[in-house]
Amino acid sequence: MKKRVLSLLLAGVMLVGVLAGCGGDKGSADGAKTYNVGVSIYQFDDNFMTLYRNEIEAYFKTLETDDVKYKVTIVDGKNDMATQTNQIDTFITQKMDVIICNLVQTSSAETIIDKVVAANIPLVLINREPLGETDESYAGILENEKVCYVGADARQSGTYQGEIVRDLPNKGDMNGDGVVKYVMIEGDPENPDAQYRTEFSIKALTDAGIKVECLVDQVGNWATDKGQQIAASALTQYGTDIDVIFCNNDGMAIGAAAAIEAAGRKVGQDILLLGVDALDDCVDMIKAGTMTGTVLNDHIGQSHTAVDVAIKALKGESIDNYYWVDYVKVDASYVNK
Ligand code: BGC
Repeated sequence: MKKRVLSLLLAGVMLVGVLAGCGGDKGSADGAKTYNVGVSIYQFDDNFMTLYRNEIEAYFKTLETDDVKYKVTIVDGKNDMATQTNQIDTFITQKMDVIICNLVQTSSAETIIDKVVAANIPLVLINREPLGETDESYAGILENEKVCYVGADARQSGTYQGEIVRDLPNKGDMNGDGVVKYVMIEGDPENPDAQYRTEFSIKALTDAGIKVECLVDQVGNWATDKGQQIAASALTQYGTDIDVIFCNNDGMAIGAAAAIEAAGRKVGQDILLLGVDALDDCVDMIKAGTMTGTVLNDHIGQSHTAVDVAIKALKGESIDNYYWVDYVKVDASYVNK
């Protein structure tokens, strides 16, 4: 009899726990509430996203208290949308309290959003914008009270790259032939960051009345080895005709820098080299004069915003659909300040 009362009591307590639990496991030994956070990153093997995901994890830790803990599960999308879709399905089955997703393919945004919304789980998209705010044809894609995007406006990063060149005394015309001839090394073309940086870096030059000519425009998929290969073959083919090598990110610019050195060219003297992200290595290169400039892609600001918003959302507080973090222009004058 006693046993039966006890188990009824226990069942009652568990039921109250389930009913009360708008997310979060109660009942760890010390009484703290643990929230489960699922994070899917498009690819672990990416310089920038590695800094970003490490900071997500570290920042969640700093926000823990005696009463609130975060169990953060971070998985590698392996640059494969099918893999990532499975990961999101698993997060849904596991009843995560919030999901943070760095999409493999922005074209799959709607499918992912629909799934997560149907499961009533808040979704914070990061780094790869499902073109809603910056491309009107996708307007409304995030219009849901539990879905948002945290990122930086890639048009700004492209513009800053172009402005660094525009503001040089020779306006980027290193060989003095009257035209800025450039090589463009692009990230994944499906990624708006790649599209906008490619477009807006050059627009900053043409808007200033500078004549430009594209010698090579190739996809390096954000990767250092690809950046090196593309730059090396462009340098072999076009030699001193090349004034500027624009890279959509620093990873590829590091590769291009190796190719520039191997070709016996000197950044700042006969060629210019631009990237985006402001990885530590590139900031050092700008200080040393082996790179012209980059643009800080603020992974600290972005990851902290994403985490802060995720926490608001899992607590049921209202969130906006878009959160923007500014880029910062990083050139020689900036790093030598
Ligand atoms: C960064 C790249 C990175 C990409 C991943 C961009 O914002 O600049 O370095 O590879 O995001 O999506």
